[in-house]
Amino acid sequence: MMAESQPRFLASDNTSGICPEAMETLLEANATDDLAYGNDRWTQLASDRFREFFETDCEVFFVFNGTAANSLALASMCQSYHSVICHQLAHIETDECGGPEFFSNGSKLLNVGGENGRITPSGIATTVTRRGDIHYPRPRVVSLTQATEVGTVYGFDELQAIREVADRYDLRVHMDGARFANACASLECSPADLSWRSGVDVLCFSGTKNGLAFGEAVIFFDRRMAEDFEYRCKQAGQLASKMRFISAPWLGLLNSGAWLTNAQHANAMANRLAKGLRDVEGVELMFPVQANSLFLELPSQVQQVLRERGWTFYTFIGEGGVRFVCSWNTTPELIDALRDDIIAALASMTR
Ligand SMILES: Cc1ncc(COP(=O)(O)O)c(C=O)c1O
Repeated sequence: MMAESQPRFLASDNTSGICPEAMETLLEANATDDLAYGNDRWTQLASDRFREFFETDCEVFFVFNGTAANSLALASMCQSYHSVICHQLAHIETDECGGPEFFSNGSKLLNVGGENGRITPSGIATTVTRRGDIHYPRPRVVSLTQATEVGTVYGFDELQAIREVADRYDLRVHMDGARFANACASLECSPADLSWRSGVDVLCFSGTKNGLAFGEAVIFFDRRMAEDFEYRCKQAGQLASKMRFISAPWLGLLNSGAWLTNAQHANAMANRLAKGLRDVEGVELMFPVQANSLFLELPSQVQQVLRERGWTFYTFIGEGGVRFVCSWNTTPELIDALRDDIIAALASMTR
């Protein structure tokens, strides 16, 4: 048996376990048998709870992971000859193995730049107006990641400005909400304000990064875009026969308020690390810390020492640099130990 040890996992919010609130409803859903393929009472309850949560009569679907959620949502928002405008660092562009293009039968992703991982209304306008001829895939969707791949957030006003430009060019707005809860927590905004009230048509809301074992909710605020979505899910292998084990844990998250407290905690831990390193010479924060992740420029020798001490982190996400991501169960002790190890590793370089 492995000795119990303090986790040193900060590579991703995917490394954490299932939070107690989600586990409780998972076990409840396991207590009795129920209908298959989403016809169970848990899926009905969770869908209704989402409508309450978002304060609107949205359509709700449950899929296994974020790549499927984004790819299928985008496929339902455009035709194969359309294009999707996204940031050049967007997960749909860099980390989904061409899933959005595959499931949409070829809709092209058009990359735009933008500071701190955010695209801007002018970036969108330039991309749309650059070409208008028949030879170019017609822009149809803007995809935003909230919080962004580099741990920043789009504020309510920024989202509204993007909606305005989307309306001007007849574009639909998709949101990759892999860290939507963290953005709500950071901005102290309601889920409704940060989604349909600021112009989002379809939101892929991640439960996996918020304390579930797995599972994402695809929320259609514009119900017309949900037409036949259940068939897309089935065809793509995303219609879980025991759907209740994806949907029921969401009830645990939403009913207990853990969706928010988990996100608040993760954000607070990222902030704690940022504050702890603020005045440390040799440490550069690459982006403002606005959610639950933090990117540092660290010399390669320091990275090596950290790895030897058991810290896990990625260096290939966003614009590179060392990425640490906090989760619902990241402890302050873990964060402080990392800060101390970074400081010690830097000091050992100068000796
Ligand atoms: C911004 C973003 N979008 C989507 C995803 C979902 O990815 P997956 O398909 O691994 O669940 C992730 C996961 O890391 C992510 O960071």
